[in-house]
Amino acid sequence: MNKINKRDTFKSKIGTIAVLAGGCVGLGNIWRFPYIAGENGGAAFILIYLAVSLCISIPALLSELALGRNQRCNAFRVFRKIKDKHPWKNSGILGIITGFLIFSFYCIIGGWALKYFELAIMNDFSGKSTAELSESLNNFIQGGIEPYLYGIVITTFTTIIVGIGVVKGIERLNKILMPLLIFLLLILVINSIFFLPNSREGLLFILKPDFSAVTWNTIFQAIGQSFFSLSLGMGAQVIYGSYISEKDNLIKTAVSVSLIDMSIAILCGLAIFPAVFSFNIEPTAGPTLLFLTLPNIFTQMTGGYIFAILFFALVVFATVTSTVSLFEVSVSYVMEEFQIRRRTACLWVFFALLLLSFLVAESQTKDSSLVFFGKSLFDWFDQITSNFMLPLGGIITVIFAGWIAPKTLLKDELTNKSTLTTNTKYFSVIQIMIKYVSPFFLILLFLELIGLL
Ligand code: PHE
Repeated sequence: MNKINKRDTFKSKIGTIAVLAGGCVGLGNIWRFPYIAGENGGAAFILIYLAVSLCISIPALLSELALGRNQRCNAFRVFRKIKDKHPWKNSGILGIITGFLIFSFYCIIGGWALKYFELAIMNDFSGKSTAELSESLNNFIQGGIEPYLYGIVITTFTTIIVGIGVVKGIERLNKILMPLLIFLLLILVINSIFFLPNSREGLLFILKPDFSAVTWNTIFQAIGQSFFSLSLGMGAQVIYGSYISEKDNLIKTAVSVSLIDMSIAILCGLAIFPAVFSFNIEPTAGPTLLFLTLPNIFTQMTGGYIFAILFFALVVFATVTSTVSLFEVSVSYVMEEFQIRRRTACLWVFFALLLLSFLVAESQTKDSSLVFFGKSLFDWFDQITSNFMLPLGGIITVIFAGWIAPKTLLKDELTNKSTLTTNTKYFSVIQIMIKYVSPFFLILLFLELIGLL
């Protein structure tokens, strides 16, 4: 087992979908999508999101999966193996660096979730006022060392899973956690919709179509969100693609994963916003929503003790399945480029991340010296990766798959060498999306994000 150069393959179709969906479902689904949807026209936004996914993100996802499965190697080597003389041959390194940087702050947020899971079990929210909850959150984050220690727990768990291997570690974990996550989510949704007073208002917030709230900016928001949510532009899907069986239908897999990812995001909204409105609280997003607004609501809700535990368990599951995918990007790179065993590579990456995430956690402490131009290292990493590196990585990948790689690559992978007749029929449409539509909109998004549009 775990021999260098022997490539693992996911064992089952359902396992493959669980792994890919696990990599996609994360904080983006929980604390970002529902809020953006609510603020940008509810169902109108969801429709735009669907269209954007079909025309822009799914083609990008297909490009990454196809490149990975075709070359069966890490996300850096893929480009070199396909065109070793092309000026872009080293561009895969961008994805490896992006994944590494994202991990360094994502594990800290995972640590916050773990801490809040523990607080929920200890019934710590109960009886606290909003001001007290806010103070304890600030003390915790600004304490630096505690979030770091919780982050280490997340990183250690991730290292163990990835160290066990692709099938026995990664596939098995996702096959257990993803159904569990959906189960927890459904319990929370049912409680929010049927048992909370005045849940209608929250439902209307996310579901009522309001086309007047849709602007150009809405479309950019939809593209950015769906891109982040599907974990594109940083090699995660390339590396997962490299473990997909040759017999699997990539188009079906990509569409299923994107539908699951979107459905979970909508369900998160249905769990969260009826509760927010039911207690007359202003809707918010991000850390404030998870670590302030919701604990505050749980203290007031009937059965809040149990629901808080279920909710933070769900957040921890969602983060861990994502950190595993991020970690695998670096590990497969180190393994194959330095020709070392999986477990040794895991240790290298683990120690490197211990160091970097320490700096990230430290940058959030009071009077930290790791604040540059008014922003902590944490915020810099977050913003540079989401607003610059991910879209750039995405553009490079779709252009590479559509224009630079041999013409037969995409067709062979997306139609399993023309043996899948339905896929063959639609291939030319998908090819147009990959070659023209997806790069065009991703370039627009990139220009918008760096302020040139
Ligand atoms: N897709 C994850 C989310 O929605 C974030 C992520 C991005 C995870 C890139 C891995 C890689 O939260």
